[in-house]
Amino acid sequence: MNHFHYKNGELYAEDVPIGRLAGKVGTPFYCYSTATLVRHFEVLRDALSGLDATICFAVKANSNLAVIRTLADLGAGADVVSEGELRRALAAGVPARRIVFSGVGKTRRELEFALDQDILQINVESDAELEELSQLAAAKGRRAAIAVRVNPDVDANTHAKITTGRKENKFGIEWTRAHQVLRWAGTLPGIEVTGVAVHIGSQLTELHPFREAFRRVRDLVLMLKADGLAIRRIDLGGGLGVPYDSSDEVPPLPADYAAVIRDTLGDLGCALVVEPGRLLVGNAGILVSRVIRVKEGATRTFVVCDAAMNDLVRPAMYDAHHDILPINEAPPDAELLPVDVVGPVCESGDTFARQRSLPGLTKGDLIAFATAGAYGATMSSAYNSRLLVPEVMVKGSAFAVVRARPTYEDMLALESLPRWLHQPAE
Ligand code: LLP
Repeated sequence: MNHFHYKNGELYAEDVPIGRLAGKVGTPFYCYSTATLVRHFEVLRDALSGLDATICFAVKANSNLAVIRTLADLGAGADVVSEGELRRALAAGVPARRIVFSGVGKTRRELEFALDQDILQINVESDAELEELSQLAAAKGRRAAIAVRVNPDVDANTHAKITTGRKENKFGIEWTRAHQVLRWAGTLPGIEVTGVAVHIGSQLTELHPFREAFRRVRDLVLMLKADGLAIRRIDLGGGLGVPYDSSDEVPPLPADYAAVIRDTLGDLGCALVVEPGRLLVGNAGILVSRVIRVKEGATRTFVVCDAAMNDLVRPAMYDAHHDILPINEAPPDAELLPVDVVGPVCESGDTFARQRSLPGLTKGDLIAFATAGAYGATMSSAYNSRLLVPEVMVKGSAFAVVRARPTYEDMLALESLPRWLHQPAE
């Protein structure tokens, strides 16, 4: 469910016509819907009701301050994976005691910064990290609240690049060793063991991998409890998928996901953390683009638009599908033609859709890539020296530019020539 819909033949974000936004900010741009963010948060929160669960939004999915603040105002915490994300979460007003720091390669500086902020917990991913963190905390006269991220060796049945819970993946500590590591962690001077964490992958469209992973976590927690090690909190990661292809994808509902949590972990007396990213923001954002021209190739028609793989890399990187919506609604009897929708970047990988059936598009038409709120803007780059695209947030009939388009001067400002190149070119 989202709040992008056609009204009088034009696509709107809530009560704002997309065409009007395009006129104001130019294309391409990301557009987020507040009502959709709120709805997704509330659906998940209600699904988890009765459980002592904190929803820590995975900031990597969308790190715009306005998005984080919207969720924080609803009671969300944050799951962060870098000092930059931690600073964003704090700047957006997320209380430090609702922030979890995950990631396989936190630097010493990042660990120290997290300790200084007194965040809820650091999810540790190796023996070496535990040792380093213990030393850093002890030097500050502190004990770091940690969870050990376990790798449950479960196949999440998702794209290979975003599966994280197999033993050949770089994440977590093998679940068979976790017991021993947690007991050792409990003896370190700068460590306070609070829990266990797990995250098996992203865009999961089935529940059984979650069930399998959560069962392994359950067994581990019971073993630890029997051993006298108090486990207060279990962090279940994120991963629940969203429908990208409106024609054939039906991921599990949050209520069914919550039922798996209740079944497997509900009776352990532990507080829970979930770290959804995509589920909260995926369908709350679109990328709006304008058709530059239509090119007839030897065997196919290319719709060349002004957004490119640097703005939304998911199709190029994961062969991901994003529905493409014309901003001006096609009449119901419009003929659909197979076209390739491509960007201007100089690689064939800069293709959003191959042989997609779309109503006739012509130069100047506006289109939207749907479900672009997660891992869209956050994964964008300035490849081909294209400017990062702006982000706009809508709430009812109001809208605001929540990240401005940089200028070409901004783009060049951080670079300088070394002194041996200061002479003018001949
Ligand atoms: N927690 C941890 C420790 C994670 O690594 C991730 C995502 C999440 C939570 C949030 O997962 P979500 O609920 O969004 O599935 N760029 C890829 C997705 C990468 C996900 C990385 N980790 C994409 O565009 O599909």
